Amino acid sequence: MIQQTLSIIKPDAVQRDVCGEILKRIEAGGLKIKALKMLELSKKQAQGFYAVHQDKPFFDSLTDFMSSGPIVVSVLEGEDAVRVYRDIMGATNPAEASPGTIRKEFGLDIEKNSVHGSDSSENASTEIAYFFHALEMVDR
Ligand code: CMP
Repeated sequence: MIQQTLSIIKPDAVQRDVCGEILKRIEAGGLKIKALKMLELSKKQAQGFYAVHQDKPFFDSLTDFMSSGPIVVSVLEGEDAVRVYRDIMGATNPAEASPGTIRKEFGLDIEKNSVHGSDSSENASTEIAYFFHALEMVDR
C-alpha cells in the first residue's frame, strides 16, 4: 500500500552538516520526497510534537534537545513508507542499529539519534499535519 511518513532530521545531524547524506539514503531507499523544509522548534512546539511521550523520564531532555537548533522535516511517500523508512533509519538506539542504517552511521546516542520517523500510518497523518499544509505537498 502506498503510504506517507514524516521524517525529521534532528538538530545533532543538521549541526554536523549531514542532511545531504541522510536525504541521499532516503532517496536511494526508494522513498519520494513530497515536501521538505528547515525550521527551529520552540520548547512548547517540541512538547506538542512529542506529547505521546510526556510521561516518559526522557521527555524533558528530548524536548530540550529537539528545540536546541534547526531541524529538517519532510514528507516521504512510497510503498509501505512507514516500515521502509524505519528500516532505513535503523533501531532507535544507534548502538543497536544495523550497519548501513542512518542511526548506525550518524547517530550519537539514543537521544541524539539523528532522525525521527513515524511509527504507524495513523501517527504519520497527525505528525504530517503538525508541520505541513496540504498546499506544501507536491504531486509527483
Ligand atoms: P524518536 O523516533 O524521535 O521518538 C522518541 C525519541 O525519544 C526517540 O526517537 C529517541 O531519540 C528519544 N529517546 C530518548 N531516550 C529514549 C529511551 N530511553 N527510549 C526511547 N526513546 C528515547
